[in-house]
Amino acid sequence: MSLPTSSASSLAEALSGWPPPVLDPHGPFSNSVTTLAWVLFGLMTLIFIAVCAALWVAIYGSDTLRAKLGGERVVKWFGLIIPAGVLLLLLVWSLMLVRGLTTIQGDELRMRVSGNVYWWRVSYLDAAGREVHADANELHIPVGRPVVVEMVSEDVIHSFWVPKLGGKMDMIPGRTNRLKLQADKAGSYGGQCAEFCGGAHALMGFVVVAHEPADWQRWMDSRLKPVAAADLTVEALRGRQLFNEVGCAACHRVAGTEAQGISGPDLTHVGSRLSLGAGILPNTRATLIGWIGDSQSIKPNNRMPAYRSLKAEELNALGSYMEALK
Ligand code: CUA
Repeated sequence: MSLPTSSASSLAEALSGWPPPVLDPHGPFSNSVTTLAWVLFGLMTLIFIAVCAALWVAIYGSDTLRAKLGGERVVKWFGLIIPAGVLLLLLVWSLMLVRGLTTIQGDELRMRVSGNVYWWRVSYLDAAGREVHADANELHIPVGRPVVVEMVSEDVIHSFWVPKLGGKMDMIPGRTNRLKLQADKAGSYGGQCAEFCGGAHALMGFVVVAHEPADWQRWMDSRLKPVAAADLTVEALRGRQLFNEVGCAACHRVAGTEAQGISGPDLTHVGSRLSLGAGILPNTRATLIGWIGDSQSIKPNNRMPAYRSLKAEELNALGSYMEALK
């Protein structure tokens, strides 16, 4: 099985440039949105040229030219009938397209993502809508199968957007929106919050990783086994102890341990994520330590306090523990 590894180059690959490219579809749902975007762009360009030409004739055209191209008939057709017809067609087409992006057939993989300032809570659901695996800031999906993502928000309005795999959908407190994603090819795809949600809104990214179906199933199975204490080094065990002592466990959950906080991202498998800080940093020992020690200077006003009082040895131990949570 080829699971993506944590390194700076895989983050760059994961995000394939920043911000995620918007007109490069890699799945059927993103394809239809991109086609609509190009048709709109083409039509608007034609109309812009036509309006400029009409303006030119009105200002500089000779009397004969104006008489030939002007008049009530032209206004009726080009000012009313044709625009109304074009807009109506576009409205019907986009409504049908949105239906395709949100209609649920029943055989899709189900996930729920909730927006938080400034990160994403991710849940893998069974057919009955119960959570089977909790994660954060990264979605793993099988290639070639549609995924329905239920979207909620725990604070303000966010917007979920993976331009290469699907449309864009707002996450509104008190409401559940749905959007379908699908990837045609295995790989990593960058996502971004697309609705201003506070000062660090631009730093609210995420990654979608598409696996071949068999690899995806193995990945899912591996998620249900938390790292055992017996597999930790002495340094990581020290980190595990500090994790509880300095208060990390109040907000974060690590399955299989006493850390069961839910207000921050689930860290059960944080060591195997491609990125840190919700899609903005490569996941390495150095960035883990930097984040724990002073996440406020990296992402101002995020809800995690900066732990500037921790000693280098303590930060190293915590980093080592986080790294071990594969
Ligand atoms: Cu969340 Cu912008």
